[in-house]
Amino acid sequence: MTTGERLDDIEAALEGARSEGLRIIEAAADLGSLAEARTRALGRKAPLARARSGLGGITDPTDRKKLGQLANAVGDELEAALTSKRGGFERAELDARWERERVDVTLPGDAPPVGSLHPLTKTAWEIVDIFIGLGYRVAEGPEIELAKYNFEALNFPEHHPSLSPQETFYIEGHGDEVVLRTHTSPVQIRVMESQAPPVYVVIPGRTYRRDVMDATHLSAFFQLEGLAVDEGITMGDLKGSLGTFAREIFGRDLDVRLRPHYFPFTEPSAELDVQCFVCRGSGCRVCKGEGWIEVLGCGMVHPFLLEWVGYDAARYSGFAFGMGVERIAALAHGVTDIRSFYDNDVRFLAQFATGGGGP
Ligand code: PHE
Repeated sequence: MTTGERLDDIEAALEGARSEGLRIIEAAADLGSLAEARTRALGRKAPLARARSGLGGITDPTDRKKLGQLANAVGDELEAALTSKRGGFERAELDARWERERVDVTLPGDAPPVGSLHPLTKTAWEIVDIFIGLGYRVAEGPEIELAKYNFEALNFPEHHPSLSPQETFYIEGHGDEVVLRTHTSPVQIRVMESQAPPVYVVIPGRTYRRDVMDATHLSAFFQLEGLAVDEGITMGDLKGSLGTFAREIFGRDLDVRLRPHYFPFTEPSAELDVQCFVCRGSGCRVCKGEGWIEVLGCGMVHPFLLEWVGYDAARYSGFAFGMGVERIAALAHGVTDIRSFYDNDVRFLAQFATGGGGP
């Protein structure tokens, strides 16, 4: 073999190594087989390495340099082919992963059930709001109350049946001096004791009586009291204010009436009726044929109370009222058994939910 033939052979072998290597690399199907392809195209036993080994036998430096450069170029080309192939595989794998882990952030989530205010809370707030609009503020007092405030200061005679332990819960260990308040009226006294007139307050709160529970009675219930004391307050103010309240709650075009009644702490005393909002006076099941629905107890503040707290009863007068929140809520929503408000049956309560998807 002449030197020229050997040169041609080596050159052909290098070109063969190039095309063989490129073929091997091209044939790799994934990152794993690409590693194998690298060994087969660029490893110690690869065609390129074998062709390179022939270079040692070339004595002419120019020829050797030329073929050496060719060998390097082939090596670089195969290296570049491997790199680009790997890049393709890595991109494909990343694309697949994006696809696998894709999250559609626009899909609606699983909404957790959201609660809502209890219908009694809503009713109380609604009533409070009406009176706030009339210039009243909110006051509160203790549920465990001195009998002195619950009865005595409110002009209950000593032997009034309400004082009986059959009617009122007495707190053990305190004789007959401490009770669970039977109404929110003792807070009238507490408010008046704490400030000079004028007084305009509404007093929401829990109250207790030894009542047997039925559709209209509970032993723990929710009252809302009101008290207005100022110079020159008359029964006309009482009727006007409570009429405004009743029409706000039950219907703007309904009539109201005052029916004489008795409470020790008001004189005169009355019950406020509103025209039946179902039959408008002709008589139906809701008003039990009466045409009118009893809404609350009220009256002009008895001077006994004003004197008890040290107000000038000749200068000041006032009116007071008290209502059962369960009763107002039941009437306003057509609930026939007030015990439903305390059963905590979500199916019942959810009917009163407004705004933001209730349970
Ligand atoms: N405290 C009375 C009751 O519990 C209601 C009431 C309050 C009546 C204020 C008149 C004035 O029934």
